Amino acid sequence: MQNTDKKFSLTQFKLFLDLAVLALFITVNIPQLTGLAGHEWVSFVFVAPFLVHLVLNWKWIVSVFSRLFKKLPGETRFNQIWDTLLFIMMTLVIFSGTIVSEAALPALGIHIEIDPFWRSIHTGMANLLMLMFGVHLTLHWKWIVSNFRRYVLQKTV
Ligand code: HEM
Repeated sequence: MQNTDKKFSLTQFKLFLDLAVLALFITVNIPQLTGLAGHEWVSFVFVAPFLVHLVLNWKWIVSVFSRLFKKLPGETRFNQIWDTLLFIMMTLVIFSGTIVSEAALPALGIHIEIDPFWRSIHTGMANLLMLMFGVHLTLHWKWIVSNFRRYVLQKTV
């Protein structure tokens, strides 16, 4: 009984964390909402729950990568490839955003000359990242909806 409770509370924590990641991601993708400085600081804040999201799904990550060259169900293989691309793209967008920073880095006393190449990488890849994030959400939609109903709307499923 105690175990089940623990498991439920972990799922609940994952759900609220994922909702926070989603809300921050949407905010970051609409810089008009926060202004450019806000966009940069909110992006830095976003990194923390994003990393916790990876840590909480670490068991799955290790399990699929330990079977990299072995047979895996098609859906799991697709998720593995998609999530890897998503991670690479996320890293690229955060990295390029950081080196074209106009507010946060200068406020921290770090001054880097802004390179138009990295700027176009940042804006171009951010659009692609939005699409990839949307597909990631769709692939986990059933989990999100059933746990949202259970923990937010308090409906049993
Ligand atoms: C998940 C991370 C991030 C996402 C999804 C993201 C997304 C975006 C989007 C959608 C735009 C507007 C693009 C356009 O106008 O077409 C933008 C612009 C910008 N972002 Fe980010 N961003 C992220 C992280 C960062 C970080 C960490 C920084 C700096 C600390 C940053 C700095 C900038 C700057 C300076 C611009 C304006 C670029 C320009 O004027 O062309 N971004 N970002």
